[in-house]
Amino acid sequence: MFLPEAQSLKPAACVTRRSRKHPVATVTNTDFGQLWFDIFSTNRGGWNTMPFDAQLVESVKGFLDPEEGQRLYDVALVASKIGPCLEIGSYCGKSTIYIGTACKENGAVLFSIDHHRGSEEQQPGQEYFDPELFDEGTGRINTLPFLLRSIEKAELQDTVVPIVCKSALAARQWATPLGLVFIDGGHSYEDAFTDYNAWAPHLVPGGYLLIHDIFEDPKKGGQAPFQVYKLALASGLFQEQPRTKTLGVLRRRFF
Ligand SMILES: C[S@@+](CC[C@H](N)C(=O)[O-])C[C@H]1O[C@@H](n2cnc3c(N)ncnc32)[C@H](O)[C@@H]1O
Repeated sequence: MFLPEAQSLKPAACVTRRSRKHPVATVTNTDFGQLWFDIFSTNRGGWNTMPFDAQLVESVKGFLDPEEGQRLYDVALVASKIGPCLEIGSYCGKSTIYIGTACKENGAVLFSIDHHRGSEEQQPGQEYFDPELFDEGTGRINTLPFLLRSIEKAELQDTVVPIVCKSALAARQWATPLGLVFIDGGHSYEDAFTDYNAWAPHLVPGGYLLIHDIFEDPKKGGQAPFQVYKLALASGLFQEQPRTKTLGVLRRRFF
């Protein structure tokens, strides 16, 4: 389990904000600057204009609400200045386009992990089964060609690194500090807890942990992501940020 670390973690000295109207960087070095930056840049959907075709991202199969996608983009625009981003659960690339586009703007990288065999609920006979994703040749779901097509259409080939395996395998020897971790892989308790324990410790101070499908009401959806979200908060290592629909946003504290 991800527990508080003993060493002291210093706050970042400054934050750089680039405005679209005024491309010269604005540098603030106070907590007020940080506060302003957090409130107006990452806490509200729609603050930043996404530089891509909305129709393209809408055409990609996936489960992300557009407002959640906008928020992913906004947070990733900040986080990818701190370090590389990583998502668990690429599926066909919808979240990949939102996060990847922000990374591209900062010359950063998005690692996108998925075994591409689909989650339990996406298998034949289950609620979220999509026959178009079923590969008759192998007799199983295969979303990898769809992800690669999305990456190409969004021109993110030089930004996104697809990693095709179980997330726990990719985590086994991972050593790169991360600016953002987005958990949207398997939704069983085991998968969600494994992803949290494996990836959250790699977040740098000030980095963002995003968890999709947070349902406080069990009638509205599975509880595993919400349990993980509460576990992260209980660790004391994260500061809660406003949610966007079912997208939970936590920021790793500096201490
Ligand atoms: C809900 S979908 C992700 C949706 C995607 N983020 C989007 O924006 O459309 C979950 C994905 O996680 C993948 N997955 C489930 N368990 C996994 C695991 N243990 N390791 C890697 N990928 C996994 C599935 O193959 C599936 O593609």
